[in-house]
Amino acid sequence: MEDWSDCLDVAVQIALRAGQVVQSAVKQEKQVSSKSTPTDLVTEADHQVEELIISTLREKYPSHRFIGEESSAAGVKCELTDHPTWIIDPIDGTCNFVHSFPMVAVSIGFAVRKELELGVIYHCFDGTLYTARRGHGAFCNGVRLQVSKEKDVSKALILTEIGAKRDPATLDIFLGNMKKMLSAPTHGVRIIGSSTLALSHIASGAAEAYYQYGLHCWDIAAAAVIIREAGGHVMDTTGGPLDLMSRRVVAAGTRQIADYVVKQLQPINYGRDDTDP
Ligand code: IPD
Ligand code: CA
Ligand code: CA
Ligand code: CA
Repeated sequence: MEDWSDCLDVAVQIALRAGQVVQSAVKQEKQVSSKSTPTDLVTEADHQVEELIISTLREKYPSHRFIGEESSAAGVKCELTDHPTWIIDPIDGTCNFVHSFPMVAVSIGFAVRKELELGVIYHCFDGTLYTARRGHGAFCNGVRLQVSKEKDVSKALILTEIGAKRDPATLDIFLGNMKKMLSAPTHGVRIIGSSTLALSHIASGAAEAYYQYGLHCWDIAAAAVIIREAGGHVMDTTGGPLDLMSRRVVAAGTRQIADYVVKQLQPINYGRDDTDP
């Protein structure tokens, strides 16, 4: 039985290299364009970093498969099979990156037989490195991570993100969900512009819950392993098991807070990663 520890070491080295590329790109003039909507931004650096990560991993593991945000946007099929598969977000928080707003990460997840085995998230601005391997704990710069043990939602800090879809109907549901979270009353709701870093804050116990409709498998793959290994819960917004391709997630430190969030949410339909063109 493979323990994938070599893959974790390799992923860490590549995430650090990718992070250096992002750090130097953030200081330079950026070539920005948009994809699905005017607010769905992409830069040359997104492509460059994804190419760096995938080509380095492919050289090391020629039989492995790859899912990457920018490859998927370019038409490569986004498909999770039983084969060892790397799931990559080269720059999470592209809009933040464009503005030099300091919440930008590289995210590398790895699944085998559709089970998430390891995750690496590198915070490019402050150099924080989150790592986890299934069954072996989660770490932040080598220090063991533990989720918040808070069960009382009135003492919870809740995180969410809004995707690129901003039509009035989507915004109404988004704001309705947020209103429910604020009127619990919780301690507050935050949007930081990077789903992987927000999820890392659930793993570290800095916030109690995260929910989002509209994220992608590359936003959640690495973070899901890190949160679970830190003792947290990652699930579908219905409360069932996480479906990586479903574009929705609830994550929380405790089951009580996860259940509370699940009960409040009105769904937003985004389709699936593995069926979208
Ligand atoms: C996006 C960010 C954003 C979230 C979106 C993601 P990207 O990732 O994480 O915070 O709201 O759903 O797609 O496009 O910057 O990699
Ligand atoms: Ca993007
Ligand atoms: Ca992302
Ligand atoms: Ca991205």
